Amino acid sequence: MALPNGIQSTQELLDAHAHIWNHIFSFINSMSLKCAIQLRIPDIIHKHQKPMSLSELIDALPNINRAKSDCVERLMRILIHSKFFTKVKISEDKQGYWLTPSSRLLIKDEPMNMTSFALDMLDPIFIDSYHHISEWFKNDDPMPSATRDGRTFWELLEQDSRLNQLFNESMASDTGLAASVILKDCGHVFDGLKSMVDVAGGTGTMAKAIADAVPGLKCSVLERPHVIAGLKGTENLTFVAGDIFESIPPADAIFMKLLKKCKEAIPSKDKGGKLIIIDMVLDNRKEHEAFESQLFSDMILMSMGLGRERTEEELAKLFYEAGFTSYKIHPVLGLRSLIEVFP
Ligand SMILES: C[S@@+](CC[C@H](N)C(=O)[O-])C[C@H]1O[C@@H](n2cnc3c(N)ncnc32)[C@H](O)[C@@H]1O
Repeated sequence: MALPNGIQSTQELLDAHAHIWNHIFSFINSMSLKCAIQLRIPDIIHKHQKPMSLSELIDALPNINRAKSDCVERLMRILIHSKFFTKVKISEDKQGYWLTPSSRLLIKDEPMNMTSFALDMLDPIFIDSYHHISEWFKNDDPMPSATRDGRTFWELLEQDSRLNQLFNESMASDTGLAASVILKDCGHVFDGLKSMVDVAGGTGTMAKAIADAVPGLKCSVLERPHVIAGLKGTENLTFVAGDIFESIPPADAIFMKLLKKCKEAIPSKDKGGKLIIIDMVLDNRKEHEAFESQLFSDMILMSMGLGRERTEEELAKLFYEAGFTSYKIHPVLGLRSLIEVFP
């Protein structure tokens, strides 16, 4: 058998074949995860409080067609492979399913749970945008979601209250985790601040966590009106409806992006002014899975028209071009970092 041009050995041929298979079908990992969340498998095992046998799991799954019971074992097998569950011994001849750190983040009652984030990112409407990327490369649409049905990502959210709610919950759940790590490991970043604006701060999860944790700090959240409709502030937390591209209320510190406008809104470094950003710093020296997640995130931003992920060099260039003079990166958030940028 002649090998295809450029392939040196049968082993290389078989490896390339398996590699393509894995990439074609890696969506099955996402969909198996989605199925586990929708069937509430992490909650069921958590509630059981000890490893669960297959039959116990099947009995606890609500509304399962019993004729499909053996498929539950197949679903659990791929989820064990992808490290969402483990199998442990529960008696001499029986094994049971147990949680891993990843499935613990999918338990509904867990305050830092990522369930809404997963269901939002795996919603058919959002996933559909990725089917239009090649077409989008050839047209003038601002983002693939616009190529999908003519609506930008933001128009889609404004017009579809289900998606708006799902997206806001998903951002809040993702941010809740970041907020607790930042306040635990990097709380000093907020020392001495009297006012802070979270620019495009969603439903205020981050601003609320910071305002609650830092005495004397008043936070506001600048957001699109439909995101903060009906939300009530507190003494330390105010919601401001507006457009970040038009103006940003003045404050000691600005949380997030949009550098030029942010610089205008904060005082000098001597007076404690700074920009605080939570963002990814693209780094190909990270271990394989972490760098891959960063590349996924960059593609998500591209598909939603939300900007891009940047390397440290690219971020530094952006900061200096916007008139900032120095920055400090705190790599405390795994995939993301907390970045202080000074005028
Ligand atoms: C990726 S979400 C992040 C939300 C929040 N910062 C968080 O981390 O949970 C981006 C947010 O930017 C808001 N946004 C986008 N364009 C905006 C604009 N022109 N003015 C105000 N907010 C905007 C969206 O409504 C959305 O809530």
